[in-house]
Amino acid sequence: MNFEKNFSTYDSNAIIQKEVAKKLVKIIEENINEKKFNRVFELGCGTGLFTKEVLKKFQIKNLDLNDYYDTKNYFKDINYNNFIVGDMVNSINEDYDIIISSSSFQWIDDLEKLIKNISKKTDKLFFSMYIDGNLEEIQKHFGVGLNYKTLGEITKILKKYFNEIKYFNEKKTLEFFTPLEALKHIKNTGVSLKNTKTSIEKIKSYKTRELTYSIGYFIAKK
Ligand SMILES: C[S@@+](CC[C@H](N)C(=O)[O-])C[C@H]1O[C@@H](n2cnc3c(N)ncnc32)[C@H](O)[C@@H]1O
Repeated sequence: MNFEKNFSTYDSNAIIQKEVAKKLVKIIEENINEKKFNRVFELGCGTGLFTKEVLKKFQIKNLDLNDYYDTKNYFKDINYNNFIVGDMVNSINEDYDIIISSSSFQWIDDLEKLIKNISKKTDKLFFSMYIDGNLEEIQKHFGVGLNYKTLGEITKILKKYFNEIKYFNEKKTLEFFTPLEALKHIKNTGVSLKNTKTSIEKIKSYKTRELTYSIGYFIAKK
């Protein structure tokens, strides 16, 4: 994870994440009758890209936000209640009408622990995350990548803690002018190739101008 240095370039590069945020909001609208909530918690809020989309469509009385990093600066114009800095897995301490998250859960090693902790504090969870097949071009060439979970693995966990599960998945492709531009793009959106044995030769021999994103959208209710 390499967000700390890249939050300033995140919004202008997060083309896919923006589309994902919009789509998740649409899915929430289609699967919930309410337009007003008393208490909502967003996990992994980053620079507020998804938060802003949510607030266009829903009225929230008490909005709590969480991110691993202190990104409060990006939320100056947003009316929130608490900002909880730290690992989301251990940040869910109060009861909420709904818990939401976009483009973040792929970073969580112990997804089951997170879902279990969430299920103790809400009966509605809506989220998007990158799944198996995400950035497969990088995986193939560099042999590195996050250990993206499959739809089956994620729904199996959700079913243990929630009764009603719905999910959607899709692939999106971005095309760049050069392979190097594609590599810069993923760096600017927080995915780091650092700390891996990525040599200059390996970067030079990277010839793919496309990046494939594989996304899952999940609705879990009790
Ligand atoms: C791809 S960004 C998504 C940000 C925002 N939700 C959006 O849709 O643009 C992923 C975010 O998850 C945060 N994150 C990663 N691991 C985390 C953890 N364990 N606890 C809290 N936040 C985490 C990162 O700091 C980053 O802001």
